[in-house]
Amino acid sequence: MILREMTYDDLSTIATLEAELFKEPWSQSDFQRELDENEFANYYIAEIDGEVAGYFGLWLLFDQAQITTIGTAKKFQRQHVASFMMEAIDQMCVENECEFLSLEVRVSNTPAQNLYKKFGLDIVSVRKDYYSDHEDAYLMVKAVGGFE
Ligand SMILES: CC(C)(COP(=O)(O)OP(=O)(O)OC[C@H]1O[C@@H](n2cnc3c(N)ncnc32)[C@H](O)[C@@H]1OP(=O)(O)O)[C@@H](O)C(=O)NCCC(=O)NCCS
Repeated sequence: MILREMTYDDLSTIATLEAELFKEPWSQSDFQRELDENEFANYYIAEIDGEVAGYFGLWLLFDQAQITTIGTAKKFQRQHVASFMMEAIDQMCVENECEFLSLEVRVSNTPAQNLYKKFGLDIVSVRKDYYSDHEDAYLMVKAVGGFE
């Protein structure tokens, strides 16, 4: 498995995966806008034998890092692709001297919550009515740093 930066050539594949994996998927143009216009955005692909197995977005906002999305293609799930990506995220947080890593996750999304707990994130609050279908989100956070 390798990690590489997401490029324009990946966008249609990612939009297709996104539609398979998420209730409120981002469109191809949402991802394109992130690549083009968001200086804080970092988007990566986990690739297995030339195939996109997973992807994630990470905003690196000074001392804060935020996971915007993370997904593993169905055929590659439960094979530690997301774990590989979370390890890469941890490393990026350290390299960028982030103090905190955070994300929002649907309260019903137990698989993702289990993944994040495994990587040291804790539920710190509930964001009521966070999604457009009115589901609540958990805010999950971990302290990364110890940097002065
Ligand atoms: C959540 C998701 C990214 C996990 O990806 P994955 O590559 O299958 O995860 P891994 O194989 O690295 O699993 C790591 C840990 O996550 C948890 N986990 C993953 N899938 C799980 C499932 N279906 N049920 C329960 N726990 C699960 C387990 O703790 C697992 O550790 P284990 O293998 O030691 O049991 C994947 O299910 C997915 O893409 N879901 C749809 C998109 C999504 O919900 N993204 C998160 C948005 S906040």
